[in-house]
Amino acid sequence: MVKLWRCEICGDPCIGETAPDNCPFCGAQKKYIKEAKGAKVNFDVELNEVDKANVEHAIQVEVSNATFYTCASRKTDDDEGKLLFKALGKVEAEHASVWRKILKLDSLPRGDDACHTGNKENLEDSHAREARAIEFYRKAAEEAENERVKQIFEVFVEVETDHLKLSEERLS
Ligand SMILES: [Fe+2]
Ligand SMILES: [Fe+2]
Ligand SMILES: [Zn+2]
Repeated sequence: MVKLWRCEICGDPCIGETAPDNCPFCGAQKKYIKEAKGAKVNFDVELNEVDKANVEHAIQVEVSNATFYTCASRKTDDDEGKLLFKALGKVEAEHASVWRKILKLDSLPRGDDACHTGNKENLEDSHAREARAIEFYRKAAEEAENERVKQIFEVFVEVETDHLKLSEERLS
């Protein structure tokens, strides 16, 4: 029987017979996807100075990466690469919007990142961006005082690690 599901990390809903293995929007693992009526989603959190500074950095990182991937999805000289960067761009834009909700902003900051024509250059750039995001999110998760913010930082470490594997496979 078809059901309505909701991701407890990004809050977005999806429809299907079973929960997807990963949230189609933010990439969170299956254990965070619950039947919509029972899902617990909260973006109304108190941030101390350290958590606020980390979330403000996180939104910049995600906007910057989303802008890069959207550019690469159009310009990269490889058909599969175009699809990969399109998918990654959507996920990073969703991550940016999670941080936008936590910061209670009406809109996202703008990114101005450029990309390459060569698919290999884009994969290398992607690899470096994901590695930096993982390192930052890991540190932010360790420092986090607020449990909800800590949870999101930890989940995004996992999601960015999945992204890192995608470029790693294609570069090897
Ligand atoms: Fe991300
Ligand atoms: Fe990523
Ligand atoms: Zn999600």
